[in-house]
Amino acid sequence: MGNWPRSEELYRRARNSLAAGVSSNVRLLAKPLPLFFERADGAMIYDADGNGYIDYVLGQGPLLLGHSHPNVLAAVEQAMGRGQLFAGQHKLEITVAEELVKLIPCAELCRFSLSGSEVVQAAIRLARAATGRTKFLRFEGHYHGWFDNVLISVAPPLEKLGPRQCPNVAPSSQGQAHSTLSECAVLPWNDLTLVEELFSKEGSDIAAIITEPMMCNNGAIKPAPGFLQGLRKLCDEYGALLIMDEVITGFRLGLKGAQGRFGVTPDLATFGKAMAGGFPNAALVGKAVYMRLFEEGVNHSGTFNSNVISMAATAAALEQLQSDEAAIYGHLESIGTSLMAGIREIAQRTGVPLLVTGLPTAFHLSFTDVEKIEDYRGLISNCDQKRYERFAVGMLERGVRLLERGIWYVSTAHTDTHVEKTLETVEEVLREA
Ligand SMILES: Cc1ncc(COP(=O)(O)O)c(C=O)c1O
Repeated sequence: MGNWPRSEELYRRARNSLAAGVSSNVRLLAKPLPLFFERADGAMIYDADGNGYIDYVLGQGPLLLGHSHPNVLAAVEQAMGRGQLFAGQHKLEITVAEELVKLIPCAELCRFSLSGSEVVQAAIRLARAATGRTKFLRFEGHYHGWFDNVLISVAPPLEKLGPRQCPNVAPSSQGQAHSTLSECAVLPWNDLTLVEELFSKEGSDIAAIITEPMMCNNGAIKPAPGFLQGLRKLCDEYGALLIMDEVITGFRLGLKGAQGRFGVTPDLATFGKAMAGGFPNAALVGKAVYMRLFEEGVNHSGTFNSNVISMAATAAALEQLQSDEAAIYGHLESIGTSLMAGIREIAQRTGVPLLVTGLPTAFHLSFTDVEKIEDYRGLISNCDQKRYERFAVGMLERGVRLLERGIWYVSTAHTDTHVEKTLETVEEVLREA
């Protein structure tokens, strides 16, 4: 195989001691193989074979400030010198919670965990406790972590989806508890009429709607005009909670999250990834009336929750993002906009049928003739995913690292020079394919 003899060797070795050679199944999707990396700095990442790449994977989204941001590293180093884990309270927790309360529209109170998957579970538990109901509604193609009750209809093949009006509740892993499947309803995203129909029949049994506010896990698809507002209205009408899963969109779409950007305030929201500058941290935030249930019998725990390192990194990342909000987000938007526009222009010039969707800080490319995609069904029935994977390998061979599922993340460390080199590479690969 191509340029990665050292990675190949390490991967072979890894398979003897690490199950499947990786620590997250998502990494098995990497083509042509899960590469081994040695260091990363700013917008660049370097593999074990000494190849450098402009990185649009960015740790699957967290590295909004780029790799190894000096202020984040300095804050961690300084805080770590005083201890790492107290199994008790420390001031940085309050500092970060106060920042989230100040910034995020729905955040009146916060709780911290280490991963997005955990805070999603806490949100669902809270919604059930608040309403006395069990069922929740989720949408096809959205990802809310890897636990049994939510790893449902995330990326099923077309033939497993079932009818559009009444989709299958499709588990996504062997060994998944089927007992949880009846606890959720699944619908295509962005179709308010279908949600209204469901609520007119079952609304009084539904504890919550959970939604990515922009469908980033499949296609970077924006909410249709009025869709999120419609979900908000239905939840209010039927006494259900609206949970926005902002694990990707949080801080990436702006300091107020997607809820600020789209102007719809949920009851609860989950944050992770970009919040902590590349360190593990996640937050459940929400309205006090619900969050107070943690004092009244709802359990949320975790040995490593709000450890010193995670909180120091988060405090530093949030401080950095707020240090010059207009310049920082202006730069992110400008880099993403140049990439999106440049790719569209190259596709047009080379006659390649490419669709670029999403927003500048998180956008998606697919090979398709259609001009608009609104949901997961539209994505998988119209897009040539295998062609995208070949394209991503072509980019990797030439020094640009992309996620194989089509989403591109940008960071504050990307520059116009990175954009220029990336666009040249896009053109080269498209002309060859
Ligand atoms: C929207 C969303 N929610 C939840 C999660 C789970 O987060 P984690 O991988 O930190 O458990 C992810 C992970 O990609 C995600 O994209």
